[in-house]
Amino acid sequence: LTIREQLLQDVSPPPEHASVKITIVGVGQVGMACAYSIVNKCLVSELCLVDVDEKKLKGELMDLQHGLQFTSNLKLQASTNYDITAGSKLCILTAGVRQKEGEDRRNLLERNISIFKGIVPQLVKYSPDTVILVVSNPVDVMSYVTWKLSGLPPNRVFGSGTSLDSSRLRYFMSERLKVDVNSCHGHVIGEHGESSVVVWSGMNVAGVRLSDLNPDIGTEKDAERWLDIHRKVIDSATEVIKLKGYTSWAIGLCVSELTASILRNKKSIFALSTMAKGFQGIEEEIYISLPCALAENGVASVVQLRLTDTEKAKLHKSASELAELFKSAKL
Ligand code: NAI
Ligand code: 2OP
Repeated sequence: LTIREQLLQDVSPPPEHASVKITIVGVGQVGMACAYSIVNKCLVSELCLVDVDEKKLKGELMDLQHGLQFTSNLKLQASTNYDITAGSKLCILTAGVRQKEGEDRRNLLERNISIFKGIVPQLVKYSPDTVILVVSNPVDVMSYVTWKLSGLPPNRVFGSGTSLDSSRLRYFMSERLKVDVNSCHGHVIGEHGESSVVVWSGMNVAGVRLSDLNPDIGTEKDAERWLDIHRKVIDSATEVIKLKGYTSWAIGLCVSELTASILRNKKSIFALSTMAKGFQGIEEEIYISLPCALAENGVASVVQLRLTDTEKAKLHKSASELAELFKSAKL
């Protein structure tokens, strides 16, 4: 008898699937930052990693396994084969190319579509009831492409969208106001990119709207130039990429909170890239970010923002720019 057989007498077969199983596709900088944050927050009982790079998969798997004593003892698996992902409640897509210094996210579209064609059908084959969270760029179009390739209802497929831009905005807001970032409220909506829109009219601390204190906020007329923090939000990725080559920690932390909202059915509000047709006067069938309540079935509700005319016009401009990009998405 082995030591295990002498030590433990099994009284029932182990369950086929752990109760909370998720998959991350892509074990690059972003995928592993997501994995690390999710493991650290003890959100899952089983985590599967999938990539085309077998060697990197093995290294990342071992490295995480060696730290399990310090988190919850979850089951970790890694493979180039999608069969390990069967029964995943959530699949997070971080595979594909990232932008080089100075490159626009929109440039990645064609390369990442062809990668996703090999990924999405496999995921849905093994987890037909999954929710899919897309992170790969350009995230709005990649979310739409994933929705089309998956055949899932639109609520089950969404992108991290401007949830990261919103957290950057709130960070810059907290720096200016010298208040905890969690007490600084505001959303960036629209494209995750150059045409994003700050909802200045809703920015508030403890319900006090900054636009009531300074009606010029977000405009060129504002002496305090809050507009500059929008530029900083937009330039954040470029700047970090220039310094370290990629962005990872902020998106990893963000994705782990999105994951918590899904797995715990929390209905927390995040600006997410979602099917926006019919909202805010958007007529195109496109994915773009709006604040959404995130639950176990994915996007449960979209917040009906009361936008000013200027904000609405900017959102429509962002939507029409994206609509052009959607047209070039060859499925
Ligand atoms: P990376 O190059 O470090 O990792 C990409 C990974 O994808 C690699 O491990 C590669 O082997 C894998 N991969 C490539 N083809 C694959 C396939 N067919 N199947 C499975 N895996 C495959 O890139 P990084 O920095 O992790 O970025 C990943 C993506 O995330 C990029 O598109 C980047 O622009 C995007 N991103 C999005 C953010 C957002 O806010 N939405 C934030 C940061 C990055
Ligand atoms: C970011 O905003 C590159 O989309 C990525 O960090």
